[in-house]
Amino acid sequence: MFFLVLFLYLPLSYALTCNPNGFRRDCGHVGTQQSDCEQKGCCWSPKGHIPWCFYPNPSTVYVIQDAVQTSLGYEITLVVNDSSVGQAISPLYVNITSETKDRLHVKVFDPKNTRWEIPQNVSSFSNPPSSPPPASQYKVSFAGKGEEFWFAITRKSNGETLFNSSANSNGEFNSLVFEDQYLQIGTQLPSGYNLYGLGEHVCPLRLSSGQTYTLWNFDTATPVNLNLYGSHPFYLELRQSGSAHGVFLRNSNGMDVTLNEESLSYKVIGGILDFYFFLGPQAEAVIQQYHEVIGRPYLPPYWALGFHQSHYGYKNVEALQDVVAQYKSNKLPLDTMWNDIDYMDQYKDFTLDPVNFPEKKMKQFVDELHEDGQHYVVIIDPGIKKQSGYKAYDDGIHAGIFIKDKNNNFFVGKVWPGNTVFPDFFHPAAQQYWQDQIAGFLSILPVDGLWVDMNEISNFCNGECTSDVDFVSDTNEVRNSIYMKQENVGFDPNNPPYAINNQGNHIPLNIKTLDMDAVHYGGVLEYNSHNLFGIMEDTATSIALRILTKKRSFVLSRSTFPGSGVYTAKWTGDNHANFNDLYYSIPGMLNFQMFGIPLVGSDICGFIGDTNAELCARWMQLGAFYPFSRNHNNKGSKSQEPYMFGQQVTDISRKILNVRYSLLPYYYTLFYYASRPVSASNVPAATVTRPLFFEFSDDNNTYGIDKQFMVGSGLLISPVLTQGAASVTAYFPKARWYDFFSKEITSESGAESKTLATPLESIQVHVRGGVIVPMQEPSLTTAASRLNPYQLLVALDSSGMANGSLYLDDGISLNVTRYSLITYTAMSTSGQTTLTSKAQTTVTNDSESAAPPMNTIIVLGVAKKPSTVTANSKPLPSSQVLYNSTSLSLTLSMLALPMESDFTLLWK
Ligand code: GLC
Repeated sequence: MFFLVLFLYLPLSYALTCNPNGFRRDCGHVGTQQSDCEQKGCCWSPKGHIPWCFYPNPSTVYVIQDAVQTSLGYEITLVVNDSSVGQAISPLYVNITSETKDRLHVKVFDPKNTRWEIPQNVSSFSNPPSSPPPASQYKVSFAGKGEEFWFAITRKSNGETLFNSSANSNGEFNSLVFEDQYLQIGTQLPSGYNLYGLGEHVCPLRLSSGQTYTLWNFDTATPVNLNLYGSHPFYLELRQSGSAHGVFLRNSNGMDVTLNEESLSYKVIGGILDFYFFLGPQAEAVIQQYHEVIGRPYLPPYWALGFHQSHYGYKNVEALQDVVAQYKSNKLPLDTMWNDIDYMDQYKDFTLDPVNFPEKKMKQFVDELHEDGQHYVVIIDPGIKKQSGYKAYDDGIHAGIFIKDKNNNFFVGKVWPGNTVFPDFFHPAAQQYWQDQIAGFLSILPVDGLWVDMNEISNFCNGECTSDVDFVSDTNEVRNSIYMKQENVGFDPNNPPYAINNQGNHIPLNIKTLDMDAVHYGGVLEYNSHNLFGIMEDTATSIALRILTKKRSFVLSRSTFPGSGVYTAKWTGDNHANFNDLYYSIPGMLNFQMFGIPLVGSDICGFIGDTNAELCARWMQLGAFYPFSRNHNNKGSKSQEPYMFGQQVTDISRKILNVRYSLLPYYYTLFYYASRPVSASNVPAATVTRPLFFEFSDDNNTYGIDKQFMVGSGLLISPVLTQGAASVTAYFPKARWYDFFSKEITSESGAESKTLATPLESIQVHVRGGVIVPMQEPSLTTAASRLNPYQLLVALDSSGMANGSLYLDDGISLNVTRYSLITYTAMSTSGQTTLTSKAQTTVTNDSESAAPPMNTIIVLGVAKKPSTVTANSKPLPSSQVLYNSTSLSLTLSMLALPMESDFTLLWK
């Protein structure tokens, strides 16, 4: 409406060509130049809002032809107002479905011609309900019959409009465009919005206005704000009211998501518009509702939470043995030793280098690791060397399961081993092929997990290799080749009409990957399915491992998509050994909590370049709190195992890894909740580490914090992220906070910033009053730690209360036969405090032994020395009771309380 009114008042010739004040339908991408733009017959106006390059307006608009109410929502038919103009698909259907009281589904699609949609079997997306949900949190509205289409979603409780697709008054975006290779839609946003997600990018946690976030899987060494290894078209928005909601666009095509001052717009180059809206209202609830749709993260094997050591460039089996021995002699915890591509014969998957990593020695090495309760993981890449006589190649050719090119030949790319072909996980025989290759390798070497790298798919040629010299090693080379390709005229699948902002330079889609007309089974084009390769490989690898080992699998993936967390862990790729990337690892880790892949971490001490003692010490301190904690670096970079920097860094690393190992029962319990539909206490708990605003959404000081984070709801981590710094300024939200190490109160009631001395030996860790953290005495492996007695850290809030829980099982079985969920509650009334433990235990296999006992309970915030302490009504001898009047902490020791039995402690 606004548009029509506006242009009638302008000179007609101008209004019909390049009206910079009207809706701007994007004709290029951020960063395009005037000449490129005008050559395409588009308008150029670098003033005002983006896009600067836009189609001559007006363009056609969709109007509502019909709207029918159904039992679950509405079915709306749209038609274009002028079908003689442009390429808009008409009619369109809009199905609005109320799926749960917290979730609304809006799907815009072509009813006549089936378009590309993500197949149901690619990841475990939930199905719609059969009956309407009870009273929902949302209200939907849309334009009237005959009017231009828009829809809006409102939160009933406070009237906030959460999504409104009608163009906003400053013309930042158009309401709806739906063409074969260009779909555009957006929403109005309040100014100064707080919006998070839209990965994968290296960027601050809170996203910025004026920025375009491009989603297109790409292998590059982690530049800021550019598209990276995975795609997650999900965002969470937090309003000043403290309520959060989430928006998921279920689409695998390349896209730009642009944040303007008061709006967000999607420009998508294929598929359909398939939106899910999650009403929260707590951030944690939004994430839980999102994971319900894409699949909840799996409960990993317990050992995966131990510490991992890796390096690209370990020369031989002796080098691996030396690392394991050094960890041991330095008393540094280590659960898993890793091998990068060095172990392979000519970089071929499922082989061993017969000279440096010979089978017999490797077998002995892995057996020894296993005897010591340790584990071993190796890398595999999707590129299978094109070489007859190589089993993985011959088997794949025989089964016909490799991706094809447009001429129906197997598509040839190039990765580490030279020319390669790539398994096509759309092919029904690919799972068996992959499982057979893994089975063959396991029979040589019983590895405990697989690291799947280069699965964007990364290719060292731009599209299909034409010669062996097409090796891309340097970004400038990539960019130069790009511009040459852009000059192509006519149909080019790698250069669709709208160029997404690939690598900030609108480079063709096939750069460093496959050609977009490469074909998967069933005629699926790479153009549509590119972003799905990672999740499909993660799924196939994980399923194969579960079938073959009959245990929980461990897969670490670089490329991911919504649903990957059902199967895989994630590391954030090739970061740099500098303080900047130390910081970026925090928003990276927090984003993947939202994206449903909580087992995430960055290469500790940095991957590219040489690290140094200070940086590595700081990174070991921070990395000890990543859910996935692995030190890894590049070939040619200096060795960076924590003992390589002398006594001080070794001691720092030992201290903090011991803290990690002591906290693993708490981490594991958080993973348990994240994998479950609703927590025992009905409090949504979908993440392991989380931004501060997830816990303190009514405190807008927390909305932009990404240099600190929470582990669960109980621990606040405030690392040093600056070179040479010996202090940290940390924000304490409203609560009582205790220093984890000294046990003293750091902030009595929070809502304040404090600058805390933090010399190299230390990191700031605080415990929130009101929380009970389950712990265990640490040993050098998780296998050994799991045999040690348990401990509780009870942090009383100002009214003397605290709560916590602990999940226990054998840590490895797919179907556990003995498990407990234990809740701990501390309550204080009239000078006495009781701490109760209530265990719900299920045992279906008696031969499995019970967990070690609870031996030590440390209570923080005990104002005065108790005169009596009882355990299950029996007085505790004074030798078991220690009160510290400086830190106001009470330590009860040698308790030997069985974990599966309820108990009550009382002190007064
Ligand atoms: C990629 C990976 C990196 C690995 C290297 C060699 O760059 O991201 O972690 O070390 O390949 O396999």
